Amino acid sequence: MFRDYTQAAIEIAREAGGLLIDRLHTTRTIEYKDHNRFNIVTEVDKASEKLITDYLKDKFPSHDILAEEGTDVKTESEWLWVVDPLDGTVNYAHAYPLFAVSIALLHRGKPVVGVVYEPNRDELYVAEQGGGAMKNDKPIRVSKNNRLDGAMLSTGFAYNVAETRLNNLNHFSNFVLECHAVRRDGVASVDLCYTACGRFDGFWERFLKPWDIAAGVLIVNEAGGQVSMLDGKPLDIFGDEIVASNGVLHKEMLRILKK
Ligand code: IPD
Ligand code: CA
Ligand code: CA
Repeated sequence: MFRDYTQAAIEIAREAGGLLIDRLHTTRTIEYKDHNRFNIVTEVDKASEKLITDYLKDKFPSHDILAEEGTDVKTESEWLWVVDPLDGTVNYAHAYPLFAVSIALLHRGKPVVGVVYEPNRDELYVAEQGGGAMKNDKPIRVSKNNRLDGAMLSTGFAYNVAETRLNNLNHFSNFVLECHAVRRDGVASVDLCYTACGRFDGFWERFLKPWDIAAGVLIVNEAGGQVSMLDGKPLDIFGDEIVASNGVLHKEMLRILKK
């Protein structure tokens, strides 16, 4: 049903991923987005966004687009593309080889297509509402792990980490003491995809944006996982936080997050 949209998202995510790889070792200008020394943007983020949004505008002129580096096309369409042209900018700026392109299509506010492309491993994650989730054309499922002490989880720290009491350090310590391992890889869309394919058993983070999670949420759901707000309420993609899990461990994760 959404096949044409999915194919378009795949095509342009791959192209943008190629651009990220091509420019990884070239000189890049780093700008600070605000007074915050953690929140940076490179010219490659902007180039990738232009590539993706020009393509979407051309192909789907009646659709809306929301992308991280400023593209905001509003026509009151029922269709909204949500784009992170480079998820993992800090990794990218340090040439740490984990970053991704994330593209979701929302219909009346709900994700119906999700594509995340991690170009360094050439891993393409794709989900369509009701159609399951795939990694490089093979179906993926969340893990079956039902023990927190055997779980590998992932999290992240927002750019405002030094400015808020909700800095996630309390949850991080609580999980470190109860899990097998906790990772902090710096790419929320990939954290979600790794949860969807069972590499991670769960992921949580605060202060996220819709472009960080819109595609990954659909991929987790279609892989049989569960997503919610940190207090267990139904996920709001525009609500700036998420817990994602293999489903079995969701309650346990919420219990720790309540501490
Ligand atoms: C960031 C990454 C990171 C998360 C940050 C996001 P960006 O996105 O997803 O993992 O911890 O909160 O802002 O800025 O690299 O696109
Ligand atoms: Ca991001
Ligand atoms: Ca980004």
